[in-house]
Amino acid sequence: MEQRVRAGVLEQGSVDLLCCSGLGERLQREGMRHEGIELRFDREAHRVPLTGLTGRAITVYGQQEVVKDLIAARTAAGGRILFEVDDVRLDGLDSDSPVIRFRRDGRDEELHCDFVAGCDGFHGVSRGSVPEGVLTTYERTYPFAWLGILAAAPPAVDELIYANHERGFALHSLRSPEISRLYLQVDPDEDIADWPDERIWSELRARLETVPGWSLNEGPILEKSITPMRSFVVEPMQWERLYLAGDAVHIVPPTGAKGMNLALADVALLGDAFAAWYAEGRTELLENYSRTALRRVWRAQHFSWWMTSMLHRLDTQDPYEAKLQSSTLRYVATSRAYATSLAENYVGLPEV
Ligand code: DHB
Repeated sequence: MEQRVRAGVLEQGSVDLLCCSGLGERLQREGMRHEGIELRFDREAHRVPLTGLTGRAITVYGQQEVVKDLIAARTAAGGRILFEVDDVRLDGLDSDSPVIRFRRDGRDEELHCDFVAGCDGFHGVSRGSVPEGVLTTYERTYPFAWLGILAAAPPAVDELIYANHERGFALHSLRSPEISRLYLQVDPDEDIADWPDERIWSELRARLETVPGWSLNEGPILEKSITPMRSFVVEPMQWERLYLAGDAVHIVPPTGAKGMNLALADVALLGDAFAAWYAEGRTELLENYSRTALRRVWRAQHFSWWMTSMLHRLDTQDPYEAKLQSSTLRYVATSRAYATSLAENYVGLPEV
């Protein structure tokens, strides 16, 4: 969990939440505040001044660093986290005392609960524990995937570059002054074995070195993987005593970096709702959880779909569609109103 390289962009609200929860110490020290992003298309570079347009910023800090900080904080607070458990099942979700059953060290164990927070990811068991017919699924798959690398190369950028190129999308991000994080749009059935390091660098150069005087810094590739892209939402996000959060109920394509931020926003709502119930016996925040969370979820669904559609190339893309994409990018690059719309979604809308 602590090693797996995942997303890396925190919205301002996510940073504020982590800091308020006592998780800001390393984040403040190691996180990198960014006040803009660059859009690269038609062999030109255009900066979107996120902070100039919204007053807010994003922070680059790896998701696995957030996970490390969360595990450390929970452990320091005397909380128990059970790792390496198998065969997890949820029972009695429609009673006042649901039970989580699982196997640990070869023995059957049970956890008796007031509520179950299903934060177990897209492939977890929580969502599947809701009876058939209760949930409605909304989804879209995309005819491409992202090949991501982590490289021991000083980033050739101060801010992230999102590039639309005729060979496909590319993204230049970073993790530290010495480590670059880069992505390439590839076919969804692509095998990582067909992507030796030199092929990756050559494709990144072709898609990113499109403006005069700019070149990529290369170095040893430390990690590489291919991630499929999908949009997915299940409604409602709650059934009886089960409250679903994060990838267990919604997935966004990575363009726009919303996945981790949405998960944090869900658990922030849920945390307040549980606190109100335990401290004062109030139920309205629990009752409103799904409706409130889904407003942000759908805003992020639209934004991620829009960024994805604007920046990726489809094999089947007809010339008309390519012209529309180029016009949309130019509109973002030249209209303060449209750029502000991108920026406020990118840094995260405080109230949705
Ligand atoms: C990163 C990932 C994203 O999906 C994105 O839009 C920007 C940056 C990253 O891993 O750094």
